[in-house]
Amino acid sequence: MNYQTLLRIAGSFVYLVVATTLAAETSVPSLIPLPQKVERHEGLFSLRTPRRFIGLPLRSGTKIVVDAAAQETGHYLAAQLWRATGCRFKVETVVAGVATKGNILLTTRDAKSGLGMEGYELAVTTDSVVIRAPQAAGLFYGVQSLLQLLPPEVFAAKLVPAVKWTVPCINIEDQPRFVWRGLMLDVSRHFSSKAEVKQILEAMALHKLNTFHWHLTDDQGWRIEIKKYPLLTRVGAWRKQIGFNLDPKASTAYGPDGRYGGYYTQADIKEIVAYAQTRHITIVPEIEMPGHASAALMAYPEFSCTGGPFTTDLPGGVFNGVYCAGNEQAFSFVQDILAEVCELFPSKYIHIGGDEVPPDNWTNCAKCQIRFQQEGLKTAPELEGYFIRRIEKCINAHGRSLIGWSEIREGGLAQNAAIMDWIGGAIEAATAGHNVVMTPLADCYFDHYQSTNTVTEPHAIGGYLPLDQVYNFNPMPAKLESQYQSHILGAQANVWTEYMPSLSHVEYMVFPRLCALAEVTWSPQKARNWADFNQRMQLNYRRLDQFNINYRRNTSNPGSAHQPISDGQAPKTP
Ligand code: ACM
Ligand code: ZN
Repeated sequence: MNYQTLLRIAGSFVYLVVATTLAAETSVPSLIPLPQKVERHEGLFSLRTPRRFIGLPLRSGTKIVVDAAAQETGHYLAAQLWRATGCRFKVETVVAGVATKGNILLTTRDAKSGLGMEGYELAVTTDSVVIRAPQAAGLFYGVQSLLQLLPPEVFAAKLVPAVKWTVPCINIEDQPRFVWRGLMLDVSRHFSSKAEVKQILEAMALHKLNTFHWHLTDDQGWRIEIKKYPLLTRVGAWRKQIGFNLDPKASTAYGPDGRYGGYYTQADIKEIVAYAQTRHITIVPEIEMPGHASAALMAYPEFSCTGGPFTTDLPGGVFNGVYCAGNEQAFSFVQDILAEVCELFPSKYIHIGGDEVPPDNWTNCAKCQIRFQQEGLKTAPELEGYFIRRIEKCINAHGRSLIGWSEIREGGLAQNAAIMDWIGGAIEAATAGHNVVMTPLADCYFDHYQSTNTVTEPHAIGGYLPLDQVYNFNPMPAKLESQYQSHILGAQANVWTEYMPSLSHVEYMVFPRLCALAEVTWSPQKARNWADFNQRMQLNYRRLDQFNINYRRNTSNPGSAHQPISDGQAPKTP
């Protein structure tokens, strides 16, 4: 090779490096969910993270400067940065809301009130980072965006050496499209431990999701300690077998006596609620009634129509436990339970289920027949309406609002009751003035298959919900008139766990579909762009790797270390 050729090759190499660097420097970074407005500028802000000296923790030259309202978020950020960088970031409280050179400012001062409860502005220059938001939730979401602008290793659980902790210069103005950005987890069919629930909450926070709907009771297990009725957990939290034709080794949720299941003590619940609160996640508890109550009725069969017996060891998909709507003690029982639930959960909404009540249960019961006559009711759905209205009064007396599945809509509810639409009713409910959360079976059921090739997928309940369908879902019903649209609170993924006996299996079904739902519920509808989302997801997969999340690999992310899980087998622990 002669000298000139060498020069030409070297020249093109320099050009390539400069061009690539410039392109990388001005491209829009891989934020999920996509913010409302992003302006990228040239340059980088660097965290000052001195090199470690004989393993001693070091103080970062970058301070986190906060006002009083931003203190908690400041400490959250410092803790996150400490884990991966190994540096202590001093959190300093000041009154003034002005940026200082080399530092990160989190403040509510001079924030634009139009950003609302959850909006924020993030300004990164080579000199400083400023997150300004009217409320603490907005500051928290600004911090999530800041963390996503850092290398994905920032989410590592322990020190990652030799990473350049830089943030691209940028201006973001952002706020969510919907106030309800949720995930429902069924812990009845298979129990998730406290640590596992926290892992899910952590991943939700990364994606700016703010509502965790905790399906705590169902036919196959009662998962919440109720002091007044200890048999609910002593008996109802357990079954003889894992069930659902699963390999017993697919889960580790066995008690010391070999029974399968588990429950949360009230102390556990308080801990998880507090953990969620620091991540601006509201936990909405669900206590199923009047149906899906076999676990409760196994413990207390006297509150059923037949007197039992009931069992949590039901074949897959069978549901049979219903409270007696003619028995006053059955009402006292559920009302006592709800009183303890309201003490534990500060959420505005309490979910009471209300779905899939078997139609013939009450028609064969003498007590229920008297109720039909006394109340002038003719059909089982009318009696369900009566049941739910009584429960609604109890929930309202605790200063809360009732939310339930589609079926409760026809019961004649008070205005403040909300509907969770899984099989329709959103337009009718919103038009009648009720708030609605969209969880349609076709677009939000994450227990459905992610591929039409079910042979290569772990066994699932059925259905087909690929990632692009979640991404293209619009929670706003097309035919809802504009004056009622504010009643659509948002959307949520439902994770029914019949065939998901472990956390890594749950993660496989939830991710990356939850990343798509995050964008559906946060980002403007007009910004939806499937190709761009996939592009941004490449970096998001690396973030999920840092969280050790067993997401489903697809053709656009072949590099993951995680393995798909096989039918009925304990998936490989990542
Ligand atoms: C439901 O899926 N039964 C609400
Ligand atoms: Zn009855």
